[in-house]
Amino acid sequence: MNLAVVVKGILDIGLQKAAQIVRYSLQRDRLERAPRRKCAPLAPGPLQEANPIEGGALLRFANASLQVLFLTPDLVRVTWQPGVLPVPYALARTRWPPVEVTMHREGKGWALGGSSVSVTIRDDGSVRFYDPAGRTLRQDLPPERCGEEWHLTTRLQNHQCIYGFGEQSLGLNLRGQTVTLWNSDPLGGYTPGTDPLYLGVPLYVSLQPGTASLAFYENSYRATVAIGDTIAARFAGGALRAYLAFGPLPQLMERYADLTGRPALPPRWALGFHQSRWGYKTAADVREVAAGFQAHDLPLSAIHLDIDHMDGYRVFTTNPAAFPDLAGLAAELEAQGVRLVSIVDCGVKCDPHFSLFQEGLEQGAFSTLPNGRPVRAPVWPGWSAFPDFTNPQVRSWWGKQYRRLVASGIAGFWHDMNEPSAFTAWGSRTLPLPTRHAMEGRGGDHREAHNLYGLLMARAAYESLHEMYPERRPWIVSRSGWAGLQRYAWNWTGDVASTWPALRTTISTAISLGLSGIPFTGPDIGGFSGAPSAELFLRWFQLAVFLPFFRSHSALGTPRREPWCWGEPTLSILRDYLRLRCRLLPYLYTLAWEASRTGWPLVRPLLWPDADDPELCGVQDAFFLGAALLVAPVVEEGALERLVRLPRGRWHDFWSDAVYEGPASVHLAAPLERIPLLVRAGTILPLEEDNGLVLHLYHPGDGEGHGVLYSDAGDGDGPCRVDRFRLVPVEDRLELRWTADGEYPFPYQSIHVQVHGLEVDELRIDGRPQEPAQRFAVQPLAQVAIRLSHDSAPGRGAPEP
Ligand code: GLC
Repeated sequence: MNLAVVVKGILDIGLQKAAQIVRYSLQRDRLERAPRRKCAPLAPGPLQEANPIEGGALLRFANASLQVLFLTPDLVRVTWQPGVLPVPYALARTRWPPVEVTMHREGKGWALGGSSVSVTIRDDGSVRFYDPAGRTLRQDLPPERCGEEWHLTTRLQNHQCIYGFGEQSLGLNLRGQTVTLWNSDPLGGYTPGTDPLYLGVPLYVSLQPGTASLAFYENSYRATVAIGDTIAARFAGGALRAYLAFGPLPQLMERYADLTGRPALPPRWALGFHQSRWGYKTAADVREVAAGFQAHDLPLSAIHLDIDHMDGYRVFTTNPAAFPDLAGLAAELEAQGVRLVSIVDCGVKCDPHFSLFQEGLEQGAFSTLPNGRPVRAPVWPGWSAFPDFTNPQVRSWWGKQYRRLVASGIAGFWHDMNEPSAFTAWGSRTLPLPTRHAMEGRGGDHREAHNLYGLLMARAAYESLHEMYPERRPWIVSRSGWAGLQRYAWNWTGDVASTWPALRTTISTAISLGLSGIPFTGPDIGGFSGAPSAELFLRWFQLAVFLPFFRSHSALGTPRREPWCWGEPTLSILRDYLRLRCRLLPYLYTLAWEASRTGWPLVRPLLWPDADDPELCGVQDAFFLGAALLVAPVVEEGALERLVRLPRGRWHDFWSDAVYEGPASVHLAAPLERIPLLVRAGTILPLEEDNGLVLHLYHPGDGEGHGVLYSDAGDGDGPCRVDRFRLVPVEDRLELRWTADGEYPFPYQSIHVQVHGLEVDELRIDGRPQEPAQRFAVQPLAQVAIRLSHDSAPGRGAPEP
């Protein structure tokens, strides 16, 4: 390491903390010192016994056992032992109705038959999955055990695309990459290729024309997965348990959501814009930011309070001198429609005068060293202790602490440093591996609990908030987590560098998280750690309008970047995009509701509806937002147009209404004020405009069009309603058919329909003729018939030859 960097680092953090960091690093090394034992890989050995069990089979090999269990006809669980079974923290569901499975001897192995998938287990321990037509879906070589490690190699075919593994910056299709699953704080601004990041999920989807599958390894130990001609996964301990699902991608996501839970429906305000910065130090700073948004006519939903607002970085406290009346400030902001979100770090300052620390000590709430004493590591407050969230009593104790913040008007919680991160001078930046954890009473160490830490911190907060305030939906955004985090929290993608390549990688990171079950994510707009140019900030902002979590955040000491800091024309363009986000809210909220029922990500790869187009496998600079919108952000400096690969079907330019036919590659104009954006033909897009609702109808061609609108009070679990729209071609007419379910009254006074892609020649609303118009007013549940003009062929955009 560069000496100047070391010296600067020491000066920045202060001598006392620097000494703690060195002491901790030495202590961790001492604790982790263990003789390195070489191991000889051990195969399962010959099959000795195979017996049917309900829904599957149990096979005993000379050196290992294998249980194969069908949870549904298209979801199979495979468990190799020895090795401790996981505590099912990831799972939302552990009981499944029995599935009928046949078992018979076949060649040199056993065949298990279900209705959609069959499995053969050879006598050497290799396992294959087939579809009913006999096509191979997956092929595992006999696994190997090496000491406590498990190694599993799965064959891949040439055209298979591999997506997933939670938060990673290695690209969308991971062929040729090695992913590490060990939640880590990469420090500083991370750049594309940094591995691992804060939130790994041991899951991938594999896509190729004709077949798709999902594999989720329920194993929280450190793992590396090398993805080349095969997928070679190595887990450092535990039993080797995998859930394997087969079917089209949307169905895979539903299966995974059945297993690990659906994302909680967020409060509606969380989908608005969040302004954050490490460095809002006082109530006056916060007021000034809110006033700036008002003065410049910029919509704002939340302001985040970083560690500066705490009293000496003590979690759950507020600096009384800087924030003398937090509740008053929160009420004042709430009257302007702005929520306050508070950071919550997991490290508790080891300070005998800090009541939370004292209470934690008395209750035995902290993770301990093997000698039974709480483990200490330096983070922001200096020496800190770390709650053991694998203990249900600790989760409940910790969860109650949020009450103080809620009483001060805090509406949402920002979980940070929860990999858990520790400041170190060298080596691994977390707790020592022998640290003990309760693991729900059965006991375990940090090797197993590490990757679960952020997930269980979120669970502690979510469950308590839900219990204490049943009338509100808890809102938490978490840096770390694991499979199942979606039940409790959103994510943001951490301390990313302020560079163009990092902007580009945001897209694949968000898609990967969504396919790993965690749909609500977003980046620090402009990157965390640097000084983005106005152009980079603007392009990042335009992208983030279409991501679930829409927040600007930056590191201490970076140049200010509230929208007005950029001057014109950037300020005006940012305002337009903030307004566009507000227009999109009905669509986004409907997608959030859809995700809470299906597990489908909001941000989807272009392969989502059409895994059969191999050209789309590597497209990582564009994505779908829901079914309707194809977003193609500008990710190159200076670019004023870009090439967009269109999937099959007809696409309408959102800005110009030009029409394109896919599959094709088209050049789309992208002056600074424009992000290329296309709408799928047949979409009925609900947008909020002028305090009313506008249903934008896009000509469905020969097929039918669809749209949905979900509405409720925006929080709590009161009544809701779902309006469904169909666009049906009937002879020379297009009929809009509108039905609704649910008790909630229709939330808009004014409703308009705007027709795109065809000239309205004749118009009837509820059977009565009207003056033809492209935009017209309707009442809820209106039935509309539009006669198309014969000369209304839409203006075509020119596909690239
Ligand atoms: C971590 C977080 C960052 C935050 C900072 C100070 O680096 O990732 O978002 O601003 O800590 O709390």
